Amino acid sequence: MHRIGIDIGGTKIAGAVVDADGRILEKLRIETPIDVRELANAVVNMTTHLSAAHEVDAVGVAAAGFVDKAGTTIIHAPNIAWRNEPLRAILEERIPLPVTIDNDANAAGWAEFRFGAGRDVSDMVMLTMGTGVGGAVVLDGRLYRGGHGIAAELGHVRFIRDGLLCGCGQSGCLEMYASGRALQRQAEEIADGGGIGAGLAALRAQTGQISGPAISRLVLAGDPGATEALRRVATALGEACGGFTATLDPELYVIGGGVAELGEDLLGPVRLAYETSLPGYGDREVARFAIARLGNDAGVIGAADLAGASTPAEAR
Ligand code: BGC
Ligand code: NA
Ligand code: ZN
Repeated sequence: MHRIGIDIGGTKIAGAVVDADGRILEKLRIETPIDVRELANAVVNMTTHLSAAHEVDAVGVAAAGFVDKAGTTIIHAPNIAWRNEPLRAILEERIPLPVTIDNDANAAGWAEFRFGAGRDVSDMVMLTMGTGVGGAVVLDGRLYRGGHGIAAELGHVRFIRDGLLCGCGQSGCLEMYASGRALQRQAEEIADGGGIGAGLAALRAQTGQISGPAISRLVLAGDPGATEALRRVATALGEACGGFTATLDPELYVIGGGVAELGEDLLGPVRLAYETSLPGYGDREVARFAIARLGNDAGVIGAADLAGASTPAEAR
């Protein structure tokens, strides 16, 4: 039997029919509606369309926020206007299938663990570098959810004391220093500073902005300002991973999200910062770092795999 996975992101909603081996049979993508009330309509329409052509028995929805342990409610979302949103009830009223809600990074991490970069390990941490920084923790083959379902919010670990204000209500969160948005902010600062910022400043003068994909293109072209912006966010991420290792000691870190499209250009400075902040470095094994293998599909695949009554006991 197949399942539907839906991934609600800040800019796009992806939906797919996924089989038991994590393969996608059909996929749809639409722009995320600005109005949160329109979100439910979009998800219902997508589900109706996908279930017309396939036999499916459950729907898993991945969303960028704090989801309760039962998979019913989005308790809080730092970058979307959801506060205690009973999304499962809203969707189940209109979809004749069991629906479960999961955190987007948990879904992506679970997909990478089951079918992607983490297939051969038992202890893995995933970090997604997009609008925010998402986290997933797999311990001894299980997705770790914590006491209230909100574990692994690794983007909201305090990274800088008295730092930048974050959408979660705190300040100095890792998300403010290691996300795709942080990369843009660093690029803006470097563009303002002259010198190595000349390439970024020229880009901004031409296009009126400094977008994430444009920064990536400049990095690949060897632009020193864009490379420095990337080095800063990579360093923040790597340093934070040194701390995560002190708690979790994973074998592998999987890095996903838009920034991860830079591949080794990103992982090089991440590894360097990780090693220089690793307690007992030199005497211990060092975790591996890999780029997510399932790319943009990880969310829908993981959401589908985590959904439904027949969810593997180890998942929930
Ligand atoms: C949210 C997480 C989410 C991540 C990536 C963070 O700001 O707190 O719940 O997983 O962004 O979307
Ligand atoms: Na998470
Ligand atoms: Zn935060």
